[in-house]
Amino acid sequence: MANDNKLQNIIAHCKEYGFVFQSSEIYDGLSAVYDYGQLGAELKKNIRDYWWRSMTQMQENIVGIDAAIFMHPTVWKASGHVDNFSDPMIDNKDSQKRYRVDHLIEGFAETLDTDKGEALLQQMDALLATNDFDGLKQLIENNRISCAVSNTCNWTEVRQFNLMFATEMGSLSEETNVVYLRPETAQGIFVNFLNVQKSGRMKIPFGIAQTGKAFRNEIVARGFIFRMREFEQMEMQFFVKPGTQKEWYEYWKETRMKWHLSLGISPDRYRFHDHVKLAHYADMACDIEYDFPMGFKEVEGIHSRTDFDLKNHQQFSGKKLTYFDTDINQHYIPYVVETSIGLDRTILMVLSEAYKEEDLSTEDKKDSRVVLGFPAMLAPIKLAVLPLTKKDGLPEIARELIDQCKPAFKCFYEEKDSIGKRYRRQDAIGTPFCITIDHQTKEDQTVTIRYRDSMLQERISLSSVKQLVLDKIQMFS
Ligand code: GAP
Repeated sequence: MANDNKLQNIIAHCKEYGFVFQSSEIYDGLSAVYDYGQLGAELKKNIRDYWWRSMTQMQENIVGIDAAIFMHPTVWKASGHVDNFSDPMIDNKDSQKRYRVDHLIEGFAETLDTDKGEALLQQMDALLATNDFDGLKQLIENNRISCAVSNTCNWTEVRQFNLMFATEMGSLSEETNVVYLRPETAQGIFVNFLNVQKSGRMKIPFGIAQTGKAFRNEIVARGFIFRMREFEQMEMQFFVKPGTQKEWYEYWKETRMKWHLSLGISPDRYRFHDHVKLAHYADMACDIEYDFPMGFKEVEGIHSRTDFDLKNHQQFSGKKLTYFDTDINQHYIPYVVETSIGLDRTILMVLSEAYKEEDLSTEDKKDSRVVLGFPAMLAPIKLAVLPLTKKDGLPEIARELIDQCKPAFKCFYEEKDSIGKRYRRQDAIGTPFCITIDHQTKEDQTVTIRYRDSMLQERISLSSVKQLVLDKIQMFS
């Protein structure tokens, strides 16, 4: 399957089976905004839980918080987002279409030979690193990079556009205030740094984790749920003694990569990409890139943010944000190493990895299936219970099994259609285990378990089903 087709097939599959829908679809949709359907919401929750438990429950020195989306407007002045959170954009004068300059050049580079493409990207990185907007425009013109809509090279100057959404808080009769929809969850952690440190008696090094919505007015939003205007982040700020940030940066690079590999994804599907142009807050930064159907792209960022955020919040708020280190009897503003992963991008990564179209044809019969091979712990539904027929007391036995299992994990009951068709429907939504209740069950209390990946079937005792599934969906052992 060509990779272009793969993304389109995943998008169609997600809609058909209730994973992801275009937002407000009956009104022709809202660009780069998506809704999760009944199975997508389960998958999303399971991935979020796995991240949350890996980063809090499994870590002695990391705690989780849940800060509000709205924050005092000065937060974004202090964080640098009001002045710096912008991307260089360029407009095509004929089509009026606006492009992010790096996306425009990257798209063109992909059409070139590898060496030429690499050379172009290196030139682009050097110009971006020095904010040389004239140079970037020149690069676009010299390479005759044209607009996909008008096909012309009639470009405006390169300009910066801020990506934050603004709204107003308070009624019109009161003094109105501009507030921003947070573009990252991290600032909710920074402004609560001392609250958590003091109330939790935390000792450096320690971390604060958070998951939640973030909003960015992405000018060019594409790639399904890869780049959205409303999305969810899972971030962790690790507060360390100044001077130790390099070792913690390396530690978190390695630890986060291990987390990715724990999803059962092969190491060759990942690579690190060191940033050439550092964000306004960072002294070291890299991306963990995954080989999406549209190529290697960032799924997570690891950033050494120095004391930039806390120092600025101290300055703008006038409140002291230092930590007293009893080991060395000194006050200091901690340095921060951040791990920041997009939940929606992780969902796309897990879906891309799981989605398979398998040809099962034999000499006598043509056959195929679409299967989502999710890790069992992430599957939206863990167990499908299927009575062979709708009578003879089989549905009752199936319902009893579900009643026993549903407090522990998500189950699904279905009695319509042939068993083969029912298995295929469960394959298509990634259910790792199906149980068939048949007439033999009534005699010897055994059932058939059918495994999604191998399609193998075996007979096991009814009473062992719950524990078998529990063992396989365990997140940590
Ligand atoms: N606090 C640091 C920060 O926000 P970032 O690299 O801008 O860093 C972190 O974002 C992660 O958030 C990215 O690696 C990506 O997974 C996710 N992300 C960023 N923008 C996104 C968007 N428009 N749509 C979906 N996910 C996005």
